[in-house]
Amino acid sequence: MRVICKNQDFHTVETGTLLVLQFEAEGRPQTASYEAVRAASNGWLDEVESSGEAKGRVYETTVLHRPAGFAAKRLVLAGAGPAAKFTPAVLRRVIAAALRKAKANGVSILTLALDEPYVTDDFVSAAAEGAHLGNYEVDRHKSKPDERTEIEEFQLVVLKVPDLQLTNSFVRGNILGESQNFTRDLVNEPGNLLTPLVLAERARTMAHAEGLECEILDRDRMTQLGMGSLLGVAQGSANPPCLIVLRYKPSQPSESKDHLALIGKAVTFDTGGISIKPADGMEKMKYDMAGGAAVLGAMRAIARLYPSIPVTAYVPAVENACGGNAQRPGDIVTSLSGRTIEVLNTDAEGRLILVDAIEYAKREGVTHMVDAATLTGAIVVALGHIHVGAFSNDDAFLTKLLNAAKIQGENMWHMPLDDEYRDYLKSPFADIGNIGGRWGGAVTAAYFLKEWAGDTPWVHLDIAGTAWLEEAKPYMPKGPSGVCVRTFVELAISW
Ligand code: BES
Ligand code: MN
Ligand code: ZN
Repeated sequence: MRVICKNQDFHTVETGTLLVLQFEAEGRPQTASYEAVRAASNGWLDEVESSGEAKGRVYETTVLHRPAGFAAKRLVLAGAGPAAKFTPAVLRRVIAAALRKAKANGVSILTLALDEPYVTDDFVSAAAEGAHLGNYEVDRHKSKPDERTEIEEFQLVVLKVPDLQLTNSFVRGNILGESQNFTRDLVNEPGNLLTPLVLAERARTMAHAEGLECEILDRDRMTQLGMGSLLGVAQGSANPPCLIVLRYKPSQPSESKDHLALIGKAVTFDTGGISIKPADGMEKMKYDMAGGAAVLGAMRAIARLYPSIPVTAYVPAVENACGGNAQRPGDIVTSLSGRTIEVLNTDAEGRLILVDAIEYAKREGVTHMVDAATLTGAIVVALGHIHVGAFSNDDAFLTKLLNAAKIQGENMWHMPLDDEYRDYLKSPFADIGNIGGRWGGAVTAAYFLKEWAGDTPWVHLDIAGTAWLEEAKPYMPKGPSGVCVRTFVELAISW
């Protein structure tokens, strides 16, 4: 799908479908393009409005074929909700939903007319993102894909001449949308096709294409270093583990010493290990590498948008299986930092691989760390599928990250991490236990990581509830969401 932006009178645009935004609620001014439709519509629009057919609710579409006064084959009023609540986040979803509908209806060229006051950087970027996000499909492994037309071109027609900055924003939107889909493609892969080493190969190919440095630490290297915590998880699987490291270095060294680490959990399949998971729903544990995939997608975008801060990605990749050599509940492992851990539950494996990656990142001198991980079922209990849980040891850094999330329309919620939670993780036999009992499971998991983050400013994002959509929405199919990619990129470029 080509995604282009041009400045043209939208009456003359030759396209399959011309989308014009329609706001909800009477008395609110509509956009000039909407009023232009009214002027050309010979009373059609007035009639539609008074019949109550088109209310402008979000994702509602009202189609007019062969509209007089327009070169377009169809004109679609795209419901955009109340004007007062219209944000880039709403536009992103409205476009994605309209594009999905267009695909189902045989349209191959789709155009959005965007006019003032919405011809801004944020809206233009969101429109491009929405087109890519809406175009994403999960049926790549079907021998015959589901019936639909492919959109050949999405056009954004802005009713003023775009300046350089606006053009840049549009380009950025494309990069963000494509990179988020890159992440979703990885997350969508089943565990048999995407093992840790396959993920590493995908990362390497991407890194070479984008001009990032790539280093893959294999099992031998990790054994040499002493990553006993990560390796303990990996030992139950026939598929060997690795630690994927990608480096982005700005071309001009900046005065600041800041160095951002993006760390992502990549358990390519989580059976639970010896503390095995119930069969029901276990197939979904192929998405237990969504944190790692989000980090890789973000690095792809970062390589193309060249922020001024160096960014290094650390993606510990393992399969948590229950082969004959699998670790047992009660095993004690020694992590890279030297701390010993009693593995009370082999299904609490994400934290075990993350802490060795965190320690490794710290040794490389990073100054700020963010991790994304499908870490706990408990975060789903706490926040449902709506918010990412955000935990931190540094309020200023957390605020920075939450701002980035807000700008990018990703819902994140600040969760507590008081020192009182430390008691939950006590072990009589080792420095710490890997689980904290029944209550506050998302917090104790985060607290475990905090023990390794130490004084380095760090944010942990638990994406277990948000990385995978349980049912299709108008703007996206059931499956991987690609959450965190846009926030990570925003964090880096706004640094
Ligand atoms: N990968 C799971 C967490 C998860 C649950 C992700 C649901 C996505 C959806 C993680 O490795 C896990 O198994 N966590 C355990 C921890 C428990 C053993 C303390 C959990 O949440 O049950
Ligand atoms: Mn698990
Ligand atoms: Zn897991």
